[in-house]
Amino acid sequence: MALIDFDLVLFGGSGDLSMRKLLPAMYARDVAKDLPPNARIICVGRNHSTTKEFIKIIEDNAKPHIKPATFTATLWESFCARIIYASIDATDATTYQPLIDALRQDSALTRVFYLATPPHLFSKICKNLSSHNLATSNSRVVLEKPLGRDLATAKQINAEVGQVFSESQIYRIDHYLGKETVQNLLALRFGNILFEPLWRREWISDVQITIAEKLGVGNRMGYYDTSGALRDMLQNHLLQLLCIVAMEPPVSIAPDAVRDAKLQVLRSLKKFTPTTLAQNVVRGQYRAGHVDGVAVPSYRDEQDAPKHSRTETFVALKAEIDTWRWAGVPFYLRTGKRVAESLAEIVVRFKAIPHSIFSQSISSFQPNCLVIRLQPDEGLRMNLMAKPPGDSMRLKPVELELDFRESFKTPRMDAYERLLLDVLRGQLTLFMRGDELEAAWEWIEPVLTNWEQEENEPIPYTSGSWGPAAASALIGRDGLQWREEALPED
Ligand code: BG6
Repeated sequence: MALIDFDLVLFGGSGDLSMRKLLPAMYARDVAKDLPPNARIICVGRNHSTTKEFIKIIEDNAKPHIKPATFTATLWESFCARIIYASIDATDATTYQPLIDALRQDSALTRVFYLATPPHLFSKICKNLSSHNLATSNSRVVLEKPLGRDLATAKQINAEVGQVFSESQIYRIDHYLGKETVQNLLALRFGNILFEPLWRREWISDVQITIAEKLGVGNRMGYYDTSGALRDMLQNHLLQLLCIVAMEPPVSIAPDAVRDAKLQVLRSLKKFTPTTLAQNVVRGQYRAGHVDGVAVPSYRDEQDAPKHSRTETFVALKAEIDTWRWAGVPFYLRTGKRVAESLAEIVVRFKAIPHSIFSQSISSFQPNCLVIRLQPDEGLRMNLMAKPPGDSMRLKPVELELDFRESFKTPRMDAYERLLLDVLRGQLTLFMRGDELEAAWEWIEPVLTNWEQEENEPIPYTSGSWGPAAASALIGRDGLQWREEALPED
């Protein structure tokens, strides 16, 4: 679908996200010829730079994040010609004139305000846009995470942004929903007849969702130490993945059909009580160790880290969904920084066969297992039992493997490319609705409150390990293990 001409305004235009992700994503879509010839990107920031000076800043900070194969000096020059820099203080409506001057007054254009700013600025910016009548009916607003820090702040953001933009104009971004494999999970579940009859408590024993990172906090300590893994990863990325795995078949791919189905999952999550929480939630914080053979410091010794920080860099928990489809099926979620591997995957384990007709014992049959890998390599793997060649009828596990890169040779899109295109097309399916956001916060709220009140500290774990032993014990109590496979060397 060809895009309508647009003005894309990036608040936080000189910030880290803009340089690492948003501008490179727009460049990639420009190279792919998705952008209308006159479309423009207006970067907003407080520095008193001219557009020419700002383009130099992009050269230094955004250009290194562009895929080298797509770079040519000519394409870069024509991309930069789309960029305008508007020096304003986003919190002060009296300084907005450069932005007003930069925006085109054509009602046929799409206008997108992308707020890549801390969330406490969202409502102020929206009010300021409204006071200058910049939030027109053809405008959209994109809200970057973190979308609040608890239920109350999320509600406040929803209410205040909602005074200026209608729900159908609000795009709450969770970049995990833009990843190819997440959409392929929708394709797998609802484009094939095979899985749906088995996709339920009668046939599935448990589900694991892991997002693991070798990286530490890096230079984001200012943000991260006030957030932690529960807010930074679990409340959004992991719960969104859980929703896509667990939701009922939506009637269509239309935004509200999908979002209603996801909301139902979030509202059906079993609430934690102080007792279940103590048993089913583990938090950890990394200590010094080795990742890929390189010595790395403890979280508390990272640059700008508070020496006694109690912020968690690892969470593992067991969730349950109280519905007919899922009652009694544990969903184990886990995320951590500075762990052994960088990977994101969903593992759906089916139940064991009920009886062995072969001479081998039933315990020698590995239950079927579907592994949906989001990164580093995107693909699906299904473990089956099969007979090896020869005269023995002793079955062994084998893997059916689908590598999306091999199967589809078309160029990949980064999650931000996909999601930015969706915003510009007005396609809301892969964005969270306000009630979804609130339901996700509501579910983790008892954990947040408990951790704030508790004297206990996060459990230390060695960098380069798979997190605290308590995370293995959490799943081990149910007679299970996390799937922890070493990835091939890069
Ligand atoms: C971000 C978190 O939302 O997701 C980061 O704020 C995290 O802490 C990142 O590193 C992980 O995203 P990806 O796409 O690299 O897995």
